[in-house]
Amino acid sequence: MRPLAGRKRVTETAAWLNRLAVCKKVRVMKSPTPLIAGNWKMNGLASSIAEAKAVAEGVGATQVRVAICPPCILIDRMSDALAGSKVLVGGQDAHADDAGAFTGDISAEMLADAGAKLVILGHSERREAYREDDELVAKKVRAALRHGLEPIVCVGESLDQRNAGKALEVVTAQVRGSLPPELKGKAFAVAYEPIWAIGTGLTPNNPQIEEVHGAIRATLVEMFGEEAQVVPILYGGSVKPSNAAEILHAREVGGALVGGASLKAADFLAIVRAV
Ligand code: PGA
Repeated sequence: MRPLAGRKRVTETAAWLNRLAVCKKVRVMKSPTPLIAGNWKMNGLASSIAEAKAVAEGVGATQVRVAICPPCILIDRMSDALAGSKVLVGGQDAHADDAGAFTGDISAEMLADAGAKLVILGHSERREAYREDDELVAKKVRAALRHGLEPIVCVGESLDQRNAGKALEVVTAQVRGSLPPELKGKAFAVAYEPIWAIGTGLTPNNPQIEEVHGAIRATLVEMFGEEAQVVPILYGGSVKPSNAAEILHAREVGGALVGGASLKAADFLAIVRAV
């Protein structure tokens, strides 16, 4: 991704090309608006809302879309604390049903009711620990759409799968299986998170990221048509201030899903500013 000033020029050029293209009946697609989302996982207490407020103050009127996904118990208070700021609040998971006898679960409707605007779905920690498969993730995506939440759908291969040369096959199969056709025309993001890069400090190199993101983009276009060119494809897995600029400037990287480094406002802000 290019720096904002550069991207503004690109947008202007795209608008100009679009005007030109009217005669030729060719459309030049816009690039996705970058999204930087923080995934707090099972971290944070009421006192941590101060970090989210510091993020909101630090981002000011940024053109980057910024979101924080805290534990669901904090969504209500965080949404109030961030009202009027550029920072959106999101959930980390949602049940596929709207209500019922599901002890301990949270529905998409409840998240939306508490002030969430987005929801992470199909994170590898949930796919692994709670045996969530693509079919269930697709049901959860439908639930999110029913309640106006923008899903961030996670995909990613294990180290064994990468070493066996199966990364592209695994990831594109997850994209096909986890994204229902109802997403057509709706706002959503895909997060490519190689499992071996999450919380390990390891990251793929840019050619590896570009290869997977390119395959995800091609799959999205196949599934949803040219409009899928504007779906942000986030990279996630050990993104931190020191590697953010390099990763975020890779081709087809439309933002980041940030775990550990999203817990401290200063680190998260440094990543937002690296776009
Ligand atoms: P990490 O987590 O940034 O701590 O590696 C990313 C994620 O799991 O979303």
